[in-house]
Amino acid sequence: MFKYIISGCSAIILTACGGGSSSSGDFLETGIFVDSPVNGLYYKTQTQSGYTDSKGNFLYKNGESITFYLGNLALGQAIARSMMTPLTLTNDNDINNISIKARNILRLLQTLDSNASDHSQIILDERLRDLNISDLNLESEADLTTLLSRAEAKTAKNYVLKDAQSAEDDFIKYYNYVVSTTTTTAVTDSALNLSACQACHGQNFEKSALNKSKIVANMSKDNVTKALLGYKYGTYGGDMAGVMKGQVSRYSDTELRNSGLGK
Ligand code: HEC
Repeated sequence: MFKYIISGCSAIILTACGGGSSSSGDFLETGIFVDSPVNGLYYKTQTQSGYTDSKGNFLYKNGESITFYLGNLALGQAIARSMMTPLTLTNDNDINNISIKARNILRLLQTLDSNASDHSQIILDERLRDLNISDLNLESEADLTTLLSRAEAKTAKNYVLKDAQSAEDDFIKYYNYVVSTTTTTAVTDSALNLSACQACHGQNFEKSALNKSKIVANMSKDNVTKALLGYKYGTYGGDMAGVMKGQVSRYSDTELRNSGLGK
C-alpha cells in the first residue's frame, strides 16, 4: 500500500539497519545518543571508545555491548544500537512511566548542558570529563546535589537541577523530533507522517510497538482506523494509549481514516 525509499542506511533507524551484512562484526556502525543529542559523553564498546560528537554520534560494531559514562560513573550498559537514550541504558520500556534512574540521567544531562537555553542539543563541557563521581548513586536526590557541586568545582558554573517533569517533557519532545527528522522517508498517499511511527512500530509496521501494541501490519484496515480514531478520542487502547494519543491527535479524522495502514 505504501512503499519506502530506503535512502542508504540511515544512522538512526531503530531496527537493525544493514544487519546481517556484518555478522562478522567488522563493519563500523554509527549510532546516536539522544536526550536531545548529547555531545561529549564518553562511551566504550569491546572495540571502540571515545566521546559522542557534535551530532551525538558514537561508533560500534554490530552485536557489541556499549557503556556510557558521565565522568567516571557508568550510566548504564546495553547492546549497542543505532539510537540510544538514557531509557535504553536502564532497560526502561514505558516512556510514560520512566524509572527514577533514567529520569535522573535525563535531568542531569539537561542540567549540565553548557548551552541550556538551546534545548535542541546538549553539550557537555570538556572539563567534566574527569569528574570523579563513581561513588554516587543516581537514584539518590542528595547524590545528584553532590554531583552538581563537584561539577561546579570543575567548571565554575552554577547548576540548578532541572525538575523531573520538564526534563521528561523535553526528552520526549526531542526524541520524537529526532526520530521524525531522520528516519527513512515514507512515500505514501497518506497525510500522516508515517516516518514518525516507524521508530516504535518498525519500518513496515511489523513490530509490536514498545512490546505493547498489536502488529499493525496484520490488523484489518477497519481495525486500524478504529484504533487511530479511538486513540484520538480516548475511547480505545490499553495502558499506553496516552503515547498514541500524542501521536494522532493533531490529525483530522479524514487523515486518520486514510492512513493506508492495515490489510
Ligand atoms: C513512541 C512509540 C510510538 C509511536 C511513535 C507510535 N506508536 Fe502506535 N502504538 C504505540 C503503543 C505503545 C501502542 C499500544 C498502545 C495501547 O493501546 O496501550 C500503539 C498502538 C497503535 C495502534 C493500535 C494497535 C493495537 O495494539 O491495537 C495503531 C494502529 C498505531 N499504534 C499506529 C501508529 C501510527 C499510525 C503512528 C504514527 C502516526 C504511531 N502508531 C506512532 C507506540 C507508538
